[in-house]
Amino acid sequence: MLTAYDASFARLVDAAGADIILVGDSLGMVVLGYESTVPVSMEEMLHHAKAVRRGAGEAFVVGDMPFLSYQVSVGEAIANAGRFMKEAGCDAVKLEGGEEVAETVRALVRAGIPVMGHIGLTPQTAGQLGGYKVQGRDAASARKLLAAARALERAGAFAVVLECLPDKLARAIAEAIAIPAIGIGAGNGCDGQVLVTHDLLGMFEKFVPSFVKNYAKLAPQMKEALASFRREVTEGVFPGPEHSFTMQLDVEKLLAEGGGADIDD
Ligand code: KIV
Repeated sequence: MLTAYDASFARLVDAAGADIILVGDSLGMVVLGYESTVPVSMEEMLHHAKAVRRGAGEAFVVGDMPFLSYQVSVGEAIANAGRFMKEAGCDAVKLEGGEEVAETVRALVRAGIPVMGHIGLTPQTAGQLGGYKVQGRDAASARKLLAAARALERAGAFAVVLECLPDKLARAIAEAIAIPAIGIGAGNGCDGQVLVTHDLLGMFEKFVPSFVKNYAKLAPQMKEALASFRREVTEGVFPGPEHSFTMQLDVEKLLAEGGGADIDD
């Protein structure tokens, strides 16, 4: 699973053969410039989910439910999840939380909306978890995470994201449930893996979590390309003849008589 927030990236991720494209609320930090995922709104998520759908072809697209779009009431959760399906054409939604959201997950599934769970480090409530830290390091929190995964499975979730867990705990949870566990910072004992595409490509330099592997480092190349454009424009090198519409025209005559060849001729 990989993230995308617009049609061009959805096309790239789809072409790479990812099984699932996640329109993550990481949108807030990666694209919209927020300090966390908390401010992301339903309208922002839908705007980007629609763009992803347009570029994603037949790929399975999951819309990430933003903070407070599913916690206020089950009715609101169904209405908001329904918007991802009806307005943005998503195939499923994802939401954060364990046993406390199980009833909501059950209601969404009953309403015909496939749900992916997300436990461990849940960025929308990172403050309550003591920050962006590895979860499940003591017995009580490890058991709570296992109970959360089981509760989500019982509620009808079709998969669950495990974020920032010790690898052995993630493996144990993946083995204890029948639905796919998709890891991020959770070792290689999960059934699948997810990364934020901009992290994987080395495009987001503000911070790089230690679990991210940069398969490319595009930010320096992008900056160099942008600076080259500026330099060549300043020096009069760009656009050269190969990037100009160079034609045999008597411009003086053309402008004087108002006739002659059109640019398309
Ligand atoms: O918002 C997101 O991109 C996510 C993934 C990191 C799982 O939730």
